Amino acid sequence: MKRFFKLIPLLLLIPAILAGCGSSIPSENAEEILETPKADDLVTVGFSQLGAESDWRSANTDSMLSAFTEEAGYNLIYKNGQQKQANQITAIRMFIQQEVDYIVLAPSTEDGWETVLGEAREAGIPVILVDRRVNTADKNLYSCWVGSDFELEGKKMAAWIKAYTESKGIAPEDLHIVNIQGNIGSTAQIGRTRGLANAARDNGWDLMAEVSGDFTENRGREVMGALLKRFDNINVVYCENDNMAIGAIDAIESAGRKAGPNIQNGEIMVVSFDGVNKTALDYARQGKISCIAECNPLHGPRVRALIEVLKIGETPEKFNYVDEMLFSSVPGVDAIVVDDKTYKVEREY
Ligand code: AHR
Repeated sequence: MKRFFKLIPLLLLIPAILAGCGSSIPSENAEEILETPKADDLVTVGFSQLGAESDWRSANTDSMLSAFTEEAGYNLIYKNGQQKQANQITAIRMFIQQEVDYIVLAPSTEDGWETVLGEAREAGIPVILVDRRVNTADKNLYSCWVGSDFELEGKKMAAWIKAYTESKGIAPEDLHIVNIQGNIGSTAQIGRTRGLANAARDNGWDLMAEVSGDFTENRGREVMGALLKRFDNINVVYCENDNMAIGAIDAIESAGRKAGPNIQNGEIMVVSFDGVNKTALDYARQGKISCIAECNPLHGPRVRALIEVLKIGETPEKFNYVDEMLFSSVPGVDAIVVDDKTYKVEREY
């Protein structure tokens, strides 16, 4: 697992920064050097985004749109799949008909991509996966992937819950946890759910329910409202993204309960993932969200870097993971250990 992407955007910027030093360019060459690429020179990229369910997704779309500009030499065709795999498959077929140079796919869920990715391969169009992954027997149906290690995010969060509750002397069997999951079958849901479920089994925690909230605030609110009616002893809510956490906190407060880390005093501890939404960051500073595992959405320059490698006929690393942090303003745990590696717990959001 190679984790190098924090460096690449800066390295890639260096030629652009140098080219931007107008005074060093001889004036007779200026027009040629500074000329915007003509339409024919542009590299056409078809980007199938899965939807717009969360602030993370909006930030991710913005990052892609600002990386693939005409100034950078690209013509980007962007299609929003509206959370439906069928729409994404239609978009990919349209990109193939349009004979784009590259296809970038942010897949909604992992299964069901063999046929359409086979069609892209037949057409000789390289496919780059971003964010989530696809589950295909033939890994050569796509060139490469860049995104988060979602299971590691889940493991880190579980390690924080363990360290924090142990520091408070809370017995493992006294943790009554519900998991509000992302959309079922997506890589983010699968990894984060697995991270918690394995930790619950290993530590003897009471994982009472796993229910999907589809990564949206409204569903997070609905699901949490229903869970509070079903169980009267919930003391930890593991939300697989910030938008659902905001909805869940709303439901907790509407039920007359308090979201916070003091579960010995009847508070309900909420933890979540992303670190993009402003309200969620405010809630984290206030202690309504106790811990957030970062999920970095800024993949535009990373995908562009992969395409630059493909463009010169080289083969990029197949799986490209982004390094991510863990944030908690709740005192008590400064670092956690996952798979023998120590991660600092950041205090500033
Ligand atoms: O796949 C990444 C996840 O998708 C983000 O955590 C979530 O907010 C988004 O909808």
